[in-house]
Amino acid sequence: MQILDGQLVSKATKEELKLKVAQLVSEGKKIPHLAAVLVGSNGASETYVGAKVKACEEIGFKSTLIRMEEETSENKLLAVINDLNLDPDIDGILVQLPLPKHISDEKVINTILPAKDVDGFHPANVGKMVQGLDTFIPATPYGIMLMLEHYKIETKGKHAVVIGRSNIVGRPMSILLSQSGPYGNCTVTITHSHTPNLAEICRSADIIVAALGIPEFVKADMVKEGAIIIDVGITRVADASKKSGFALKGDVDFKAVSPKCSFITPVPGGVGPMTIAALMKNTFKACSYKH
Ligand code: GUN
Repeated sequence: MQILDGQLVSKATKEELKLKVAQLVSEGKKIPHLAAVLVGSNGASETYVGAKVKACEEIGFKSTLIRMEEETSENKLLAVINDLNLDPDIDGILVQLPLPKHISDEKVINTILPAKDVDGFHPANVGKMVQGLDTFIPATPYGIMLMLEHYKIETKGKHAVVIGRSNIVGRPMSILLSQSGPYGNCTVTITHSHTPNLAEICRSADIIVAALGIPEFVKADMVKEGAIIIDVGITRVADASKKSGFALKGDVDFKAVSPKCSFITPVPGGVGPMTIAALMKNTFKACSYKH
């Protein structure tokens, strides 16, 4: 069993970007600038946005964090996005999800200019991704693809089972793994809460991508010997022995599953850091459209 080390690959990806930024600076060109919008004070969202801003600093990107109150109106948020759309110094915009219930994700995502949509959530960018055209790929599935590439994991002809059909992870992941080209060419089964015989389907998988958000859902008896396991889940579970009061749990029972598989991502330190690295690559790309 080999650990797929997201920290290591993310670090290497960020180092590459750092060199590219230094090159831009030496050429007197514009450096990438990411704007992150955080509505409310969800603890996990705070952590994720903080990590995104920190990564910008490490690489040498500019970043702007806009905090808005939980009670902010939808119109106020849309107005902020419109201002960012019009600001020529801003290359990438991300609005951290989930949003408070009174705000429509759909309206927010549709308001972000596709050329600045570094999350790759706008329908114009999703459409391009589905057609295999050059665009922003949502950061979590993009990060997973970068990790498969780094470890040169053969995917051609393999049966990939994706658990979860969210627009952020499961759905785009299933499309990328089925696409032609390196690290694609899988036969993909996308499963969800209405899938009967999930355990049986998982047992036939060469690759499992678990993105359903239920801690330790994937058990050893659901995994074939030698399978490749990608764990996207990261749930805070109460744990009095931790200073923070919680432990982070993936969607895979790591202790029981890891001895059976060929490769596995840990939680934390697997997919999470790769999501950040992929977002940074998208932000660089958004800026290079301007060069
Ligand atoms: N919430 C969970 N994952 C993501 C992500 O990739 N982007 C944004 N904007 N919000 C998220």
